[in-house]
Amino acid sequence: MSNEENRISWNRFSEYYQSIKYISLNDIHYGPYAPGEKELKVLGDLKGLKCLELGCGGGQISIVLSKWGAEDVIGLDISEKQLEYAQALAKKENVDVTFIRGNMEDLSKFNDSSFDLVISVHAMSYVEDINKVISETSRILKANGNFVFCVLHPIQIVLWEALEEKSFDKIYPYFKTTRYKWD
Ligand SMILES: C[S@@+](CC[C@H](N)C(=O)[O-])C[C@H]1O[C@@H](n2cnc3c(N)ncnc32)[C@H](O)[C@@H]1O
Repeated sequence: MSNEENRISWNRFSEYYQSIKYISLNDIHYGPYAPGEKELKVLGDLKGLKCLELGCGGGQISIVLSKWGAEDVIGLDISEKQLEYAQALAKKENVDVTFIRGNMEDLSKFNDSSFDLVISVHAMSYVEDINKVISETSRILKANGNFVFCVLHPIQIVLWEALEEKSFDKIYPYFKTTRYKWD
C-alpha cells in the first residue's frame, strides 16, 4: 500500500478504530496483547524530555507522555482523521501536545539532534521504506537519546482473526512474507 493509500485508509478507518479499541490514558501501551510501560519500564524518567511520537494515531501515548512529565511532546501521523481525534482527546485530557500531519519517512521539518525520545507503537509496519524512518530518527535524536519502538510480532498476524473471532479456522502461515492486506 502506498503512503497515500495508507493515509486514505486510516482516514476511513479512524472513527471505527477509535470506537472499538481501548487504548489506555493511564499507561503507555505497547500494542494489543502486550504489557504496557508500567510493567516493562523501558522509558525511564520522562521529566523535562523533548519527545516525538511517530504514527501517534488517536494521541493516547503522546498524552500519557505529557501527563508523566515530558516537557515538550509532538505527535506525528499521516492521517488527518486520526489527528482530529488526537487533538480533541488532548483537549479533553487538558494536556498540551502538538499534533502534526506528516509521513514518518520524512522528518525534515525537525532539526538534527533535537529529541531526547522518539517512540513509535504499532505504526512502523505501515510505512513503505522503514530504512528512511530509522535514518531520519537517528538524525533528529540527541546523542544520548532513545528510540523506543514496537511492531506486531508475526505470531500476532498469524493468529489475529483467530484471537479476535475466538475461532481457530483462520490461521495464516508464520513464514509468509508478502504484505498483509486489509479491506
Ligand atoms: C495501528 S495505528 C497505531 C496508533 C498509535 N501509535 C497507537 O498505538 O494507538 C497506526 C497509525 O500509524 C499511522 N501511520 C501509518 N503510516 C504512517 C506514516 N507513513 N507516517 C505517519 N503515520 C503513519 C496511521 O495513520 C495510524 O494512525
